[in-house]
Amino acid sequence: MQHLIDISDLSNKQIDVILRDATTFKTKRPIQLLQDKLLIALFFEDSTRTRSSFEIAAKKLGAAVVHLDPSTSSTNKGETLEDTFANLCAMQPDGVIIRHAQNDIPRQLADMEMTSVINAGAGNYAHPTQALLDLFTIMEHFNGDIKGKTVGIVGDIISSRVASSAIRLFERMGLNVILIAPKPFMPQSDLVQYENLDEALEHLDVIMSLRAQLERHQTPVFEDYQEYAKHYCITKERMQNREILILHPGPVMHNIDISDEMLQDPRCKVLEQVTNGVYIRMAVLKLLMLDA
Ligand code: NCD
Repeated sequence: MQHLIDISDLSNKQIDVILRDATTFKTKRPIQLLQDKLLIALFFEDSTRTRSSFEIAAKKLGAAVVHLDPSTSSTNKGETLEDTFANLCAMQPDGVIIRHAQNDIPRQLADMEMTSVINAGAGNYAHPTQALLDLFTIMEHFNGDIKGKTVGIVGDIISSRVASSAIRLFERMGLNVILIAPKPFMPQSDLVQYENLDEALEHLDVIMSLRAQLERHQTPVFEDYQEYAKHYCITKERMQNREILILHPGPVMHNIDISDEMLQDPRCKVLEQVTNGVYIRMAVLKLLMLDA
């Protein structure tokens, strides 16, 4: 039984297979490879893209998805998450897709070895399918020639599971990663760090802009995000004609993370990431449900 809790669960060969299958799924209408499979989705945190992306990916391959809404589940009657999970597993799904605010929950459930567990975002620690779709979007943009390219991650890096999984995957794939953030958003790290985005720009091939994860801040970090935006918003004035690919996992805070003008710019591939997310998740489901 294989799980996907973070990138470390995948071998290099499996990452290659996922990227290759995603390309195939994007170019050819897929056959119903997962017709007899059933997945349960368990989202304890809000989601627009990831939840619908997993569901569409599963349905495109013919699998059925059952969503359990934790806000109306027996969690409210005091049932533990382990009990809820064990009961769902007793209905014999082929996998459970889970998003949770705590870093270690998906791994704990995976360790029960009752079904394949797929992490759709855990705390500030891991979001492996987001990292894979970001890698896929970068590879597509550079026609596979990514070794030595530099990705600058900009924003609330310390709270971001997207950044944390991306750093692990990108470094493993031979990309350079540099971190660009004000001090309160900068994690402990050996990576090159910049506080000043304008100074960092000349080194970058890719920008991954991130939202301030307000829901994870115990107390407000900045009073005024307009002031923050003056230094970290990806704007046309800042970018000029630089050939830098611009990514963002969404939801984008308009004119704080990226300006409305730059969101329309052909260098910005935010919606392409969303499109690619479906194909990457199809490839991940195929790997976990069929190949592994
Ligand atoms: C992110 C998440 O929830 O981890 N969104 C996503 O999955 N595409 C990032 C965020 O909420 O800022």
